[in-house]
Amino acid sequence: MLVRKAKNDYPIEDTPHTIPKDTLIFIPVYTVHHDPKIYPHPHKFNPERFNEENMRNRHPYTYLPFGEGPRNCIGMRFGLLQTRIGIITMLTNYRLTVCQKTPKAPPEFIPSSIVLKVKGGIWLRVDKL
Ligand code: HEM
Repeated sequence: MLVRKAKNDYPIEDTPHTIPKDTLIFIPVYTVHHDPKIYPHPHKFNPERFNEENMRNRHPYTYLPFGEGPRNCIGMRFGLLQTRIGIITMLTNYRLTVCQKTPKAPPEFIPSSIVLKVKGGIWLRVDKL
């Protein structure tokens, strides 16, 4: 989730509501990313959700892996680069497939964990290429 604090009273556009000054706001990113109104069948693996047309047709703040605004993640580009290099290195050397121990979707999370962690871990079969 993302955290913000209202610096001033903040009237929410087109609603009768105002967030009072100093209120702590928690933005539930996981819930937004899994809202079927925004992402139909959210647990289905569908890379087409992120093609140019679908991205253009969604409000940009419905995808918040690195937050948004002036306090978004300063390491976003480095994080993306490092993740891509990690995945490329893995897939160049190994074939990854599901196995009997792979958890079924939707995964069950550890409620006490600060970061999102799947109960029992994510098991995969790894074969050297
Ligand atoms: C895949 C990797 C990463 C993810 C998913 C990630 C995600 C995030 C998110 C969600 C925030 C909160 C943004 C907001 O509140 O709007 C954040 C903040 C931040 N991240 Fe990352 N991050 C990643 C990698 C990194 C790396 C590699 C660095 C540094 C080298 C970094 C440094 C920071 C810093 C300093 C902030 C606080 C920015 C501020 O408050 O102004 N992050 N990150």
